[in-house]
Amino acid sequence: MTMEDGRVATLVMQWQQEYGRSHLPWQQSLDPYRIWLSEIMLQQTQVRTVLDYFPRFLERFADVRTLAAASQDEVLSMWSGLGYYSRARNLHRCAQQVVAAHDGVFPSSVLALEALPGIGRSTAGAIAAFCFGERAPILDANVRRVLTRLLGFGEDLAVASNERKLWQRATDLLPNNQLTQAMPRYTQGMMDLGAMVCLPRRPLCGQCPLQSECRALQQGAQEMYPVRTRKLVRRSEAWWLLVLRDGQGRVWLQRRVSRGIWAGLYCVPVFLRYQDLVDHPLWSIALNRVEQPSFLHVLTHRDLHLHPVLAHAAQPVVMSADEGAWLSAQEWRQLGLPAPVRKLLEEAA
Ligand code: ADE
Ligand code: SF4
Repeated sequence: MTMEDGRVATLVMQWQQEYGRSHLPWQQSLDPYRIWLSEIMLQQTQVRTVLDYFPRFLERFADVRTLAAASQDEVLSMWSGLGYYSRARNLHRCAQQVVAAHDGVFPSSVLALEALPGIGRSTAGAIAAFCFGERAPILDANVRRVLTRLLGFGEDLAVASNERKLWQRATDLLPNNQLTQAMPRYTQGMMDLGAMVCLPRRPLCGQCPLQSECRALQQGAQEMYPVRTRKLVRRSEAWWLLVLRDGQGRVWLQRRVSRGIWAGLYCVPVFLRYQDLVDHPLWSIALNRVEQPSFLHVLTHRDLHLHPVLAHAAQPVVMSADEGAWLSAQEWRQLGLPAPVRKLLEEAA
């Protein structure tokens, strides 16, 4: 006996076929490498931006073996501007693990995919659904919004048991038949609904295929969902950036430690207090100091108020190589730098 698809799955798939997106570059392939790469890029970056980076990345790293064999510096450099660099480091580690543990072939089940670096349950579900037709749900921020509204799911998702309940409800709604075609169609449909119709503010319920089913619409309370009590704790910090040049126009850059903000990227020296900058040995050789206007750089959990100070190094200066290096524009342009630092150096170049 085959189970009928539920009404929700049917409506979502019909709507996707008529109104959903079908020309995104990663939709033109069933190659798990491409799907995986696009899903990681799309985790925290808009489609518009990914459209730019995705083909460039593929041009340089055509398959998982090429990516695994590249240096971390080059991967970070190709990622530069996409932000959230832990994604790039995990991407690289994941490629190496696929080569080492799976002979260069992506595993085909949610469980095996989830065991790889940087692949959470939702991303694993997307890859398994798109590439292998596995009956696995996704629950990224967009789909979470659609589902909690549709179901009138008002329980606090900061509580793990509620989160588990929503995953179960998401699983119950999946298609049951012809999964190879149905799962990609349905999965893309849920993503498209979240991105195009069930918007965070003022959802376009009049255009929604689920309007006859939607509890939140019936309640007139769409924007009350999803419910999440845990507030993102944002902190503000002032960072002093010393942009030091030598007589040849080279910049003093240091590799940041492998944890925390801008981990593993190359950066000008950063000081969390003005006094730390002034007390540092580099300060004593910094001539013609000019304070630049400060600017705000927003991260997930942090507002960084960046205060650049430009200066020239007194000649001659020798510094120990493990602390940093003098790099020419030609050299630093090829490295992974935080986007605001890259911009700062370009402006000052
Ligand atoms: N966001 C996450 N995955 C996506 C996909 N496959 N298409 C469009 N947007 C997405
Ligand atoms: Fe979202 Fe409105 Fe559709 Fe409900 S009817 S799923 S609130 S767009």
